[in-house]
Amino acid sequence: MNKNFYITTPIYYPSGKPHMGHAYSSIVADIFARFKRLENYNVLFLTGTDEHGQKIQKEAKKNNKDPKIFCDELSETFKSLTKILNLSNNDFIRTTEKRHHKSVIEIWNRLVESGDIYLDKYSGWYSVSDEAFYDEDEIENINQKKVSKSSGSTVEWVEEESYFFKLSSWSNKLLEFYNTNPNFILPTSRKNEVVKFVEKGLKDLSISRTSFKWGIPVPKNEKHVIYVWLDALTNYISALNFPDIKDKKFKDFWPADIHIIGKDILRFHAVFWPAFLLAAKLPLPKKVFGHGWILSDDKKMSKSLGNILDPIEIIDKYGVDQLRYYLVKEVSLGNDGSISMENLKNCINNDLANNYGNLCQRVFSFIKKNCDNKIPKSSTLDNLDKKLLDNLRNNIPKLINLMNKQDLNEYIKMVVNFSFEANKYFNDSEPWAIKKKKPERMKTILHTIVQQIKNITILLSPIIPNATDKVFSIMNLSNENITIDKINDDNFINYEKKLDNLEILFNKIENDN
Ligand code: ME8
Ligand code: MG
Repeated sequence: MNKNFYITTPIYYPSGKPHMGHAYSSIVADIFARFKRLENYNVLFLTGTDEHGQKIQKEAKKNNKDPKIFCDELSETFKSLTKILNLSNNDFIRTTEKRHHKSVIEIWNRLVESGDIYLDKYSGWYSVSDEAFYDEDEIENINQKKVSKSSGSTVEWVEEESYFFKLSSWSNKLLEFYNTNPNFILPTSRKNEVVKFVEKGLKDLSISRTSFKWGIPVPKNEKHVIYVWLDALTNYISALNFPDIKDKKFKDFWPADIHIIGKDILRFHAVFWPAFLLAAKLPLPKKVFGHGWILSDDKKMSKSLGNILDPIEIIDKYGVDQLRYYLVKEVSLGNDGSISMENLKNCINNDLANNYGNLCQRVFSFIKKNCDNKIPKSSTLDNLDKKLLDNLRNNIPKLINLMNKQDLNEYIKMVVNFSFEANKYFNDSEPWAIKKKKPERMKTILHTIVQQIKNITILLSPIIPNATDKVFSIMNLSNENITIDKINDDNFINYEKKLDNLEILFNKIENDN
């Protein structure tokens, strides 16, 4: 059985500091990566920065910097964000690296070899901000400016010699592929958009530029640089040591299991990328998931509205798990979703502090006081105890299935509910009332609730890894051994050692904060 799993985030433009949208894609991908590790997969999780092209060159110039130096500096802030967000990425790729350069050259050569490239002239609209070519019917006039209908960014007229990729000849093959791989593009609503776009018939795609220099030169015609999207998409195989297709990494991990992206770049990933790969005679990724847009107080984040939420500021103030949890709880993964500081505070208080945090705190303090700080072991579970544990255990296949179809919101809802039930069980069983009269029954209740805390903690670990690591370590469990199967293992608890002290997991946020 193939137990390898390859997941990627978009590689971000280091044209400014990272923002909440970047954090969101990365957190989502990290949660899936961590979940697959719980399922015992050998996971490769890749992220990085997209450093070539006109947009970066322009931004570097604005800052009076050489583009490479500019990228070195900003790429570092993206790299440090992976630490701040507690991402479990195994690699961080930069498109200015050597390993990427040779991979892009090989892709280019393969497209030449397959007869898919010809030289012509491009005249049409281009958005530097999106690094995208637009047709006349994809742009509109707003305040006497021509802008892209989809992104709103300004476009300029471009006329220059350019190499083209024969995208038009791949329409049918792509449609056939979407048809035979119904889960290639998710969510389904997005898939329908893509299919419609391809059915209209594809135009050949300009894949080189001559009006600036910052990029990978076209082999044998260095006047041209390779179009930044052909360059960028190739990162996903550069990280696997392409062009060495006999390399273990490439063999183990290509085709990718899932590319996590935002809906803005779906066309590049679901149309252009598979077409390039078809032409290059390489296997296509298994899934492209285009998540929705994060809005700030219902509006698109923008400098002019002053509503840009900075992930680092929020983490400094409230904590990383708090942000991770809130983003994926509040925003339904496939759709746009609004976030606000008010809701963030409520979410931290209700779900994290009062529910899961409180459960751990009260149970472990009770054990500390009443059981010599050791988790009691019991084998005399009654129906009520078994019901609590079984309800979660019987749902494991369902939970795995939810994560594997990226239904993160339903997954979280279920886990939060387990935590809620566990609190209720603890309240209703009142171990404090029976500690004198029925000490054995008290022990059974504590045994049961700790099992359930362990199980909920395993399920929450991909989402709030800092807090769950703390809980595992009070129980003297090493988080390296944590897998989904440990949910069914009553002995995966250290009954001998004394519990470590539990610091507060989640502070409640007061309103003036
Ligand atoms: O497009 N809500 O990079 P980029 C949710 N370099 N996600 C958001 C978001 C928002 N408001 N804003 C951005 C590029 N994102 C290319 C990608 S991949 C081979 C090359 C996320 O820096 C979302 O994932 O503009 C989106 O697709 C990505 O950031 C775009 O980042
Ligand atoms: Mg963008």
